[in-house]
Order: sequence, then structure tokens, then C-alpha cells
Amino acid sequence: MSRSGRPGILSFMNNKIFSQYPPPAGTVVEAHEISLHPLQGLKVAIIGYGTMGRAHALNLHHSGVQVVVGSRAGSKTGEKAKAEGMDVLAVAKASEVADVVMLMLPDEAVAKVFKEDIKPVLSPETVVGLAHGFAIAFDQIQWAGPCFLAAPKGQGDMLLAAFAQGGGVPGLLAVTDSSPLATWDLAAAYAKAVGCVVGGLFVTTFRQECISDQFGEQAVLCGGVIELLQSAFDIMVEGGYGEENAYFECVHELKLITDLLHRYGIDGMRSRISGTASFGGLTRGPRIINDDVRRNMREVLTEIESGQFARDFLAQHDDSQKGIEALRAREENSALVKAGHRVLPRLHPGK
Ligand SMILES: NC(=O)c1ccc[n+]([C@@H]2O[C@H](COP(=O)([O-])OP(=O)(O)OC[C@H]3O[C@@H](n4cnc5c(N)ncnc54)[C@H](OP(=O)(O)O)[C@@H]3O)[C@@H](O)[C@H]2O)c1
Repeated sequence: MSRSGRPGILSFMNNKIFSQYPPPAGTVVEAHEISLHPLQGLKVAIIGYGTMGRAHALNLHHSGVQVVVGSRAGSKTGEKAKAEGMDVLAVAKASEVADVVMLMLPDEAVAKVFKEDIKPVLSPETVVGLAHGFAIAFDQIQWAGPCFLAAPKGQGDMLLAAFAQGGGVPGLLAVTDSSPLATWDLAAAYAKAVGCVVGGLFVTTFRQECISDQFGEQAVLCGGVIELLQSAFDIMVEGGYGEENAYFECVHELKLITDLLHRYGIDGMRSRISGTASFGGLTRGPRIINDDVRRNMREVLTEIESGQFARDFLAQHDDSQKGIEALRAREENSALVKAGHRVLPRLHPGK
């Protein structure tokens, strides 16, 4: 009997969503193929009401799923959850009363909170869920019962806004090898209920999701691109070009190109930009991102795969953010960031 009174948390498997169980990585299912039935009568605890936990909790609520939020004492986000009408309990209590426990905590906090507050109160059939593969891929938690990953490919506020307009974002889905097969149907239902099946729900593994997510962040999104912007800006300024001018060319216009990439792909972007921009990019781009850069990227990927990055990340957290504050300060004091502070209020007055 489930904690919410339903006979068997995983009793609703219908074997119809996927053509094969377990579905192989690369399988894609569409929203219309997924039923919310497996969630019926179950209670979901959302542990952590930050950016992603809030989006999951509110979207689940709108999908008609019973939700309880788990927060630590004195939590600001717990207060916000209460103000937004959520049922809020202490982390252990919320985990104890729920059938599905979603760990929506920062990666560096999940091991301790799961071990001390959550695991001791779970029943063997409690389903544990995550929105990112880190905790399983790098052994932050051990759970022999059912466990799934429903990772929205979008930021939390974006997921919330898109779902409110009747849409959502694509999602990645995984289930641990030791989970009962019925976990797949429940996981797919969960992904649909939070709005991460739009454009397809893609089957992957915890490890693939985690490593590709971290590599994308480091090589491109939050690492490579930012360093590229910094370097291009510095070189223009060194060459005697005005900082505002350099800011517009190297940072502001990035959005115009990424919007085209996002909507039309690389070839679609090329066909919509000027002939000069296209020729310049195709002939000069490979000189900037050359074999040396690719060698560095491979090294970064190897560090992630070996667990070295995870160890570095957790160690700096245990050591009062050693190192990261100096790096943040260097970035905040850069000429590029300061140019942004001058330009942005003109472009977005009053914000
Ligand atoms: N942010 C995104 O858009 C995004 C995108 C994809 C995946 N994810 C994944 O979603 C998960 C949550 O990330 P997030 O960005 O939503 O995190 P976040 O905004 O930093 O929120 C973390 C939440 O956890 C709570 N928390 C922190 N430490 C805690 C502790 N020791 N005990 C109890 N509660 C604690 C915080 O509450 P307090 O108010 O008490 O500090 C807050 O509610 C992560 O696995 C992340 O990788 C996030």
C-alpha cells in the first residue's frame, strides 16, 4: 500500500508508452503517447523550492498531482512556497509522507541531506527522482529502490512560463538499472506533468545526461563562450577600439545569432546573415577554434568523465568556496563586465 493509500506505487504500468522495456538510450516518446495515470493518487514531495523545484511543484499542482514541499528550518524558499499556497513540511516529514521524493537540491548539498534526513524515512518502494544526473552518476546518493531522472532541457523559470502558456520544454529521461520496469511509465508521466516532453522526451542514462550537461556548460555555454567574449573584447580594446563599440560587437549581437541558431540551426543562421559575416565566419572561425582548443576541450571532457571535476567542485564547496571568490571578483572587475554595466541600463531602462 502506498503512503497515500494507493495499492502499490508502481501498480499502474501499462507497457504501452515504450515499445521495449527498458527502452534503449535514444528512444523518443511524444507527449500524446504518455498517460498521467501512473501518478494518480500518489503524493510527490519536492525537496527544495529553488528555481527548478518551484517550477516542478507549481507545474505538478496545475497537472492535478498532490504536492508537498520539503524545506529546512528558516528556509527563505520554504516561506515563498507557503506564500504561493504550497503545503510545506520539514524535509524528513515531507519525504516520509510522499510516494515520490524529488531531490531538487543543489548538487553539493544532495549527498548530506539525502543520507541524514531523507533515506532513513523512505519505504523500500518510495520512488526517488532527480532533475540532473550528478547525484547518481557521481555516487552522491545510494538508493536501491526505484529511481528516475526527468531533466528539463531549459532553465526553471523558462519551464514554468512555457507550461503556463500550454507548452513546455524537451526533457531527458533515465531510470536506474535496479529499478522495477514500471518506473519507466511513472517517470514518463512525471516528465509530462512538469512540462518537459514538448518536442519529445528523450531516453538517456544518468551518466550521459550529467557528463554532456557539464561538458556543454564548461566548453561552450558558461566557459568557452564567456572566455571567447572576454578575449575578443580585450583584443579590440587593446587595438584602440572603444569599449562600448567592442561590447556591442562582441556581446550584444551574440543574442541575434543565438536566436537564429536556436530557431533555424547552423545552416539556417548562415542563410540569414550577410555574405560578409558568413564568409568571415567560415574562413576565420576555424583559425580561432583550432586543434589546440580542441585538445583542451578533450582534456576537460576527460576530467569530467574521470570524476576529477566532481571532486574539484565538491572540494571547493567544502573549503568555503576556496578559489571561486577570487575568480568571480576577477570577472566582476573586468573591463568587459564594467562596459556591460554602462551599456545595459540604456538598453533596458528601469530594470
Ligand atoms: N536552475 C535550473 O534552471 C536547473 C536546470 C536544470 C536542472 N536543474 C537541477 O535542479 C536541481 C535544483 O537546482 P536549482 O537550480 O533549483 O537549485 P537552487 O535554485 O539553488 O535551489 C536549491 C533549493 O534547495 C534548498 N536547499 C539548499 N540546501 C539545502 C539543505 N542543506 N537542506 C534543505 N534544503 C536545501 C534551497 O532552500 P533554502 O531557501 O533553504 O536555501 C532551495 O530551495 C539540481 O539538481 C539542478 O542541477 C536546475
